[in-house]
Amino acid sequence: MSIIYNPNKRIFTLHTRNTTYQMMIDQYGYLLHLYYGTKNNGLMDYLIMYADRGFSGNPYVAGNDRTYSLDTLPQEYPTLGTGDYRNYALNIENSDGSQCCNLQFFHYEIKKGKYSLKGLPAVWAGEDEADTLEIVLKDQVSKIEVHLLYGVLYAEDIITRSAVIKNTSENKVIIKKAAGACLDFVTGDFDVVTLYGKHAMERNVERMHVGHGTISFGSRRGTSSHQYNPGVILADRNTTEDFGSCYGMLFVYSGNFLCEVEKDQVNQTRLLMGLNDELFAYPLGVNEEFTVPEVILTYSNGGFSELSHRYHSCIRNHVCRGKYVNTARPILINSWEAAYFDFTGDTIVNLAKEAVNLGIDMVVMDDGWFGKRNDDNSSLGDWYVNEEKLGCTLSELIDKINHLGVKFGIWIEPEMVSEDSELYRNHPDWAIRIEKRDPIRSRNQLLLDFSRKEVRKYIFEQICAILDQGNIEYIKWDMNRSMADVYAGNVTYDYVLGVYDFLERLTSKYPDILIEGCSGGGGRFDAGMMYYTPQIWCSDNTDAINRTKIQYGSSFFYPVSVVGSHVSAVPNHQTGRITSLNTRGITAMAGTFGYEMNPELLCEEEKEIIREQIKTYKKYETLTNQGDYYRLSNPFCDEYSAWMFVSEDKKQALVNVVRLDVQGNMAATYIRLKGLNRESVYFDEVTGKEYAGAALMEAGMPLAFPKTEYEAYQIALTEVEAAKEL
Ligand code: GLA
Repeated sequence: MSIIYNPNKRIFTLHTRNTTYQMMIDQYGYLLHLYYGTKNNGLMDYLIMYADRGFSGNPYVAGNDRTYSLDTLPQEYPTLGTGDYRNYALNIENSDGSQCCNLQFFHYEIKKGKYSLKGLPAVWAGEDEADTLEIVLKDQVSKIEVHLLYGVLYAEDIITRSAVIKNTSENKVIIKKAAGACLDFVTGDFDVVTLYGKHAMERNVERMHVGHGTISFGSRRGTSSHQYNPGVILADRNTTEDFGSCYGMLFVYSGNFLCEVEKDQVNQTRLLMGLNDELFAYPLGVNEEFTVPEVILTYSNGGFSELSHRYHSCIRNHVCRGKYVNTARPILINSWEAAYFDFTGDTIVNLAKEAVNLGIDMVVMDDGWFGKRNDDNSSLGDWYVNEEKLGCTLSELIDKINHLGVKFGIWIEPEMVSEDSELYRNHPDWAIRIEKRDPIRSRNQLLLDFSRKEVRKYIFEQICAILDQGNIEYIKWDMNRSMADVYAGNVTYDYVLGVYDFLERLTSKYPDILIEGCSGGGGRFDAGMMYYTPQIWCSDNTDAINRTKIQYGSSFFYPVSVVGSHVSAVPNHQTGRITSLNTRGITAMAGTFGYEMNPELLCEEEKEIIREQIKTYKKYETLTNQGDYYRLSNPFCDEYSAWMFVSEDKKQALVNVVRLDVQGNMAATYIRLKGLNRESVYFDEVTGKEYAGAALMEAGMPLAFPKTEYEAYQIALTEVEAAKEL
């Protein structure tokens, strides 16, 4: 059992393969955090120090002991109103209007297997892969119980946390803030690493020193957002890709979130990840309970690279579900950048014909096939096939495509309504709005109130009616605006749970359909969505050079198998940049592969390159989707973007490099590889040249001098088993 309770010391210890997490019920019943870090067998209660800190509150129960203060003690789930003036995990407004919740230990339970959460996505695991610790804390006055849940995935070095808040009182209360996890550090000088961005340029990496005060980021957009991803890394100041200590928190949630990092008056650091307290005030009636979404934690003392590997494995094996998780994904061609709204059924059939010619598995009909939608100003909500535009029924179109030996996929945006739609004319009240106020428009569309069951039921029936019209094997689920008009404190949360409820029913009813998530590209690129959609369109930006940065940032938490990435036309539609097909192909191969262009416009030579590209992708697909991913450069400051994949047995590797800059009289570029067997010899599958693993990792591999800008290289290495020396 990876969870141990020491009844004498009242200490809980959670062990994973390489880490230990420890907490203690102290003499007054408060649950203190003791330690999270490298695995050890010690008891770390010796770390707790007491001192009289002026102006820090002392709980009454501590008598006249002025050295006992929750304002300075490390806690597992700090609350407002207890004399702790730092950022807090929980705030409850009681029926008398007071804001206070004084949580003390009540009872605990250790169970085999991983807990699950009602209505919310969560890490899942087999009975033998995980254990659960539930610690119940209670406020004896308000009778609020907080059930802290800890899931321990030993082999994965992952600990998950969540909390269920129960109202066992006689009165209604309001939850005004709730975090999924808190980590208190009594010592340490940290940097915080965040992923910030914007539409079409998501998940840039920023590293900041944590000084006194709070660094906070989050989303108040109703989704996890393009602007800040719900993942955070707290690292020692000298931590690098390969060395040093770092902690990660990843929120398994697709809505408003808040992450706070605070260095307090005595240089202690608190990290919190949870629901955003803005636009949130959740009423909790008598005997009701509220579940705080889960946070996935890991600790690495092997730098960011090890931390990322743990998240990749956890998401691939314990978050994503369904038959596509470990099967080859179809290579697809999508109609969006090929035709936008300007297509007929023949356009889609022609794409399918080109697909056959090139070796592409599936054609996806993107936006524009329903209602009377020929631009983005109408018809969302009217999920009826525009047969006039297609020139046939949907089932006829699908049959024609299947007949060519090509699979068919379709785009939908179920959460939306256009004002110019039958649905809106019939049910204007189904759009989210604040009474007496005009709603905020965005992309000229409104958001349907998915917190309401009847709304979800209607849309579900419409979508099923479409899916039942033929052999649809893929859905692109889009979401193209942020939430505004929050009319009540429960809406932001209930909306997200409504989306999850819809997706749960959809994936259960159609387990054979692959769903790719999307929100203007990567606006809802989070572990919550990955529970339902094992791949997500990573960005609306398909420019290969920008993509190397977007994919680099995404790789800190998310595995390549969830990253939707396509080769598009040049000049690129977002940046106007021209890059070679080779560069675009190599970049897109760091994701679930596909095309976003009209192949009819290509010459035969380009088509031949694409055929070869597809063969290469298929050849290395298992390696790229299941192997270990290493970042070999930082494209935000280096002159090249480089990454590599290494198979679990280290016998196979694929090195990828895209040059971001060229200069006259260039210095030679050597790429230092990672993750290889030091003692092994590897040969380059193309040139046949042999290299020692240690040399590749220490001296590096030289690149050919560039002849033009944005050149890219892909080098496949295979271990020469017999040879031990060159
Ligand atoms: C979003 C998506 C695009 C495309 C359009 C269609 O922007 O990210 O890929 O599907 O919507 O309107």
